[in-house]
Amino acid sequence: MSKRRSMVNMPPKRKVFEVSEPERGRALRACRSQMRKWQIALPSIDPLVLDFGLNDFMRVGEIEFWIANEIRAGYCGKYMFVFDGQTCPLHSHRRKHETFFVVKGRICLRAGRKTLRLSEGSVVPVAPGVVHSFMGEGNALLLELSTPCQIADNVFVEPRTDRWLKKFAG
Ligand SMILES: [Fe+2]
Repeated sequence: MSKRRSMVNMPPKRKVFEVSEPERGRALRACRSQMRKWQIALPSIDPLVLDFGLNDFMRVGEIEFWIANEIRAGYCGKYMFVFDGQTCPLHSHRRKHETFFVVKGRICLRAGRKTLRLSEGSVVPVAPGVVHSFMGEGNALLLELSTPCQIADNVFVEPRTDRWLKKFAG
């Protein structure tokens, strides 16, 4: 783990649960190309390329750029990028409270009983316990502001993803 990575409290076994090469590199190149077109600056840390244990990255997956995860100070911030039609799967949090801000593109967000179509500039808070997911309608970038992110705080609806996560929760 690099020093920069440890500074933001990244999960320690990330290489184990990330998408493997060459798919990881391909996804990152496509993502970075889109960011350049959008003229978005990215933090100088390794991103997380996740498929949530389902091995179908372009359908269920996302790329996370963690900016901060200050557990003692009580805050977290990350960019979350999804490709067109790609979904972050249904989940909730035991304690984490999130606010999503759409930086680029359009997002379809499910939160509780609501389905929201969000465009750039939209702000939506998601309270602990509310089951939520989001999908890119076109390539899209979210900024997530939240209380600290900890692996064991996530509860996924899909049993395979929940089992995948528990392997890393320690
Ligand atoms: Fe969430």
